[in-house]
Amino acid sequence: MRVFVAGGTGVIGRRLVPQLVARGHQVTATTTSAAKLGLLAQLGADGVVMDGLDAASVGEAVGRARPESIVHEMTALSVAHAGRPDIKHFDRWAATTLRLRTEGTDHLLAAAEAAGVSDIVAQSFAQSFKGARVLTEEDAPDLGNGSMMRRLAEGVRHVEDVVVAAGGAVLRYGALYGPGATDDQVELVRKRQFPLVGGGVGYFSWVHLDDAVSATVLAVEQNAKGVFNIVDDEPAAVSEWLPYLAACAGAKRPMRVPKWLARLLAGKFAVTMMTEGRGFSNAKAKRELGWQLRYPSWRQGFKEELS
Ligand SMILES: NC(=O)c1ccc[n+]([C@@H]2O[C@H](COP(=O)([O-])OP(=O)(O)OC[C@H]3O[C@@H](n4cnc5c(N)ncnc54)[C@H](OP(=O)(O)O)[C@@H]3O)[C@@H](O)[C@H]2O)c1
Repeated sequence: MRVFVAGGTGVIGRRLVPQLVARGHQVTATTTSAAKLGLLAQLGADGVVMDGLDAASVGEAVGRARPESIVHEMTALSVAHAGRPDIKHFDRWAATTLRLRTEGTDHLLAAAEAAGVSDIVAQSFAQSFKGARVLTEEDAPDLGNGSMMRRLAEGVRHVEDVVVAAGGAVLRYGALYGPGATDDQVELVRKRQFPLVGGGVGYFSWVHLDDAVSATVLAVEQNAKGVFNIVDDEPAAVSEWLPYLAACAGAKRPMRVPKWLARLLAGKFAVTMMTEGRGFSNAKAKRELGWQLRYPSWRQGFKEELS
């Protein structure tokens, strides 16, 4: 298959491209920087410079590649694109990512339509602060009513609505870990600056990069449609995974901080994540895509990645 990977150099893209190539697909992959074309060539792709926020740039890149399938892995969360993570002003820090999920998705879908491509796979995020402790694809993620949460939710909801309406697949990746994916968090844990807030009763669903990539390959090859939670088998409370992560990283136990103090120091979003996050079920992806995880639990994955 000819596959177009928008965002071929990120933590997902740089593992996805060689996997697709190894399975015999012809891959065109994008970067915003000509300096990374060499990396894309090394990964086995035809590299192309494209700005996902510029409709003409997207139209031209997709038109030239004449793909049969398009994968949207564009975010702007690295230091190079967004600066140091700023959890207190998360919406400001994630502003370009929000635009990539709204305008960027629209540009890709317009280019796909012009090129006659209906197979689209797009990245979304498994995060919700309401509903059952473990959510399925039937449950609409809910980030609550605060203005910042609403803006964050907008991007995710848009990508999901328009991609599913266009007949494509949306992959709700859990919190990613693996090479290059959690360096910032681990650094904070090592400095004891990642405390357990309000008892750490919020849930997270994690997924190793390699498992996120294998699910993405399956979605491309099967022309999947609809929403899939791409998370591991073990949704877990922060109070379970954070001390374990600290131990794997050789750090001291995380400090405990009450909610009011954390709100003051890190803001409402951080507190909500640590105390109200929900987990996600991967049953549909296993059943319908035949997805098998290499790291069914973050327990094994953290140990291998961090010890
Ligand atoms: N579910 C999750 O937990 C989740 C999801 C995504 C990311 N993250 C985390 O966020 C951090 C950074 O992610 P990352 O390394 O993938 O980097 P990133 O900066 O988010 O970039 C991802 C991809 O998007 C491309 N991109 C950025 N701006 C673009 C634009 N305007 N137009 C087109 N493409 C654009 C990048 O290309 P170039 O940089 O080559 O220009 C890159 O290929 C990592 O720690 C990762 O784990 C977490």
